[in-house]
Amino acid sequence: MRKLFYSVLMLVAWGCGSNHILPELSLQTEWKFNTGDDPAWASPDFNDSAWKSLPVDRIWESAGFDPYDGYAWYRLRVVIPGSLRDKASLSDSLLIYLGKINNFDHTYLNGQLIGINGTNAPPEQASDTTFIHAPTNYWDKPRPYTLAVNDPRIRWDEENLIAVRVFDQGGQGGMHSGGQFIRMTRLTDYLKLDNNHSPYRFEGKELSKTVTLMNRSTAYTLDGEFEISAIDKLTGKQLFQREEMVTLKPGELRDFDFRLAQLDQSAIITYSYEVSSTSDEIAITDETPYITTPLPADEPRINGARVTAARPGKPFLFTVPATGLRPMVFEAAGLPEGLHLDPNTGIISGTVAQSGDYTVALKASNARGSSIAELKIVIGNRICLTPPMGWNSWNCWGLAVDEQKVIASARTYRDKGLMNHGWTYVNIDDGWEIHQDSMPKRDKQGNIHTNYKFPDMKRLGDSIHALGLKFGIYSSPGPLTCGGYTASYQHEEQDARSFAAWGVDYLKYDWCSYGNIAKDTSLAEHKKPYFVMRDALAKADRDIVYSLCQYGMAKVWQWGDEVGGNLWRTTGDITDTWESLKTIGFSQVENQPYAKPGNWNDPDMLIVGWVGWGPSLHPTRLTPDEQYTHISLWSLLAAPLLIGCDLERLDEFTLNLLTNDEVIAVNQDPLGVQAKQVIVDGDIQVWVKLLEDGGHAFGVFNLGDKTVDYTLEFQKAGIGQGRELRDLWRQKSLGTPGSSITLAIPSHGVMMMKIK
Ligand code: GLA
Repeated sequence: MRKLFYSVLMLVAWGCGSNHILPELSLQTEWKFNTGDDPAWASPDFNDSAWKSLPVDRIWESAGFDPYDGYAWYRLRVVIPGSLRDKASLSDSLLIYLGKINNFDHTYLNGQLIGINGTNAPPEQASDTTFIHAPTNYWDKPRPYTLAVNDPRIRWDEENLIAVRVFDQGGQGGMHSGGQFIRMTRLTDYLKLDNNHSPYRFEGKELSKTVTLMNRSTAYTLDGEFEISAIDKLTGKQLFQREEMVTLKPGELRDFDFRLAQLDQSAIITYSYEVSSTSDEIAITDETPYITTPLPADEPRINGARVTAARPGKPFLFTVPATGLRPMVFEAAGLPEGLHLDPNTGIISGTVAQSGDYTVALKASNARGSSIAELKIVIGNRICLTPPMGWNSWNCWGLAVDEQKVIASARTYRDKGLMNHGWTYVNIDDGWEIHQDSMPKRDKQGNIHTNYKFPDMKRLGDSIHALGLKFGIYSSPGPLTCGGYTASYQHEEQDARSFAAWGVDYLKYDWCSYGNIAKDTSLAEHKKPYFVMRDALAKADRDIVYSLCQYGMAKVWQWGDEVGGNLWRTTGDITDTWESLKTIGFSQVENQPYAKPGNWNDPDMLIVGWVGWGPSLHPTRLTPDEQYTHISLWSLLAAPLLIGCDLERLDEFTLNLLTNDEVIAVNQDPLGVQAKQVIVDGDIQVWVKLLEDGGHAFGVFNLGDKTVDYTLEFQKAGIGQGRELRDLWRQKSLGTPGSSITLAIPSHGVMMMKIK
């Protein structure tokens, strides 16, 4: 039953499902809140009148408890009216829905345990020992708790006390989103309408999809009408509608296939099921993918960054990214002394002793022709002169990452041609170290151990480098990582040495348990651990890009450069929902002036493709337009581009999205300026990025729920007019408009353009 509510309620929580309105008691109010931990706080008799009042629609850091990690309790007194039960179409269970909680919860009703991290606790269960050993991605997991209608823990028509004991092991904490309510369960709660177990399939000029209906009840038969309908997203014109009566016995599952023509924008597909006996209805929608990026030509074309850097005497690695037929031969004229180019792979490696700016003429040739480009190699103290582009294991595998998965991603870079567009880093996130519950964590000399999933880090680093790619790793300045694994506290120099010995090129350094070490919340304490690792990295015999991860605390963009950071996270963790993308992406305003070559604001990793933060993955819950918005905005923001999906499962749409060289060129522009938010006009926002060639790249974004015909006045946006305008996603000219242009922007979508 738990699983049933998990899926159905997620639909409600994500705002893409609707249900026939039945009595429901909202719990979205201020709850009583206290930090600390005391079993007596579960009891209805405890007097919490001296506690603070806190909203439950945001993390506690946003409600005045910043920073705070560890235990805290929320309490709410609520009368559960018998009328809820008496008016319900189904009268077997009560649902107490608590939205999402960061990270772990024990939930009590009237002093007795009813739920643990989203799982119901039966009446006889008084305690639990698994509480804080769940995956860290539980912050994004809905908490639906159900009790039989006659469960003695419920006090019908009387005051009840809901007490939620929360443990946050690092970063953000608390009851934070998804809505909280109490109602009786409904027949539609037993229906799992799964439209996202696999993405749309591209079949010639058509798209096809399979959706699944499942009756998760062990007792009830579901009898009702299932409808699938499609409308054109821009015009609203109906494309098809299909209805049929569907009866599902308890436990029965049925697949439904449909197909429709590919369009040059999305169609909106609505799936609805109405239960005949009660008229309870559930409806969800999705949108069809559409391809914009033209396929690369057979002729060679050199893509990606036009500038790269290394420190004198440190290993240098750069692979010339080029699309076109293979075999291809590479040439480089003007390489500084110490560097060597492999003509067959385009890998440039070696070391350069002498500081300086070197201009190299690159050439790539194949049977169809050749392409030339200039590459500036800067040997000096600053590295990471364009935003890092790569892959990171977290948004897909979470703590389930292992060596095979990392290697598979690296190979896919080559096999699916991602390298030809500039994708470079292969980064392991949390989960490679020894877990806090296992021993030994380090050897006798204090050198960090890897766990059984990573038997030989040096071997892994070598194989990544052999492909012409770079290798990234993760640690924390505290004793433990966010996932509860061994971290670098008091071993910083040793760990930096281990990383360098393994061939690491990039370190993500995540605050996490350092919250318990910091003496106070002063700026100096925020900076301190980052200085320590900066100095340790400086002693390593390699260049290691230094990525600060502390969720934007203490306005890190103002001092990230001072502590040696090349990039720094500006917000909490992203997840694959529009709410998360919108909140994070469109808030990158204040930090704009601080981005520059070698220093990047990091609004977190990409949430396209198959993601999951653990062993089982799902296709991103973002619509195609939301994904165009994501990649456009991150490119304009000069944000690090770290793919967070299983690369082996890249579908045609996602690959197309990640390989648009004109869009990537905006992100990698050598000037390194972050886009400014120049217009906010209702739901429309315009973000403009100055480019090295004096032109502007810009995005007109529609954050609203309807298509908007928007007239952009170039002067108002601070963009020159009377020059040629280019649609970057479709890589085609839009002519030379006068002082304005009117564009149809789909809801949650974008037009990304460049003006010369
Ligand atoms: C934090 C970070 C994530 C990821 C996890 C690993 O939540 O913000 O990006 O690194 O830790 O545990």
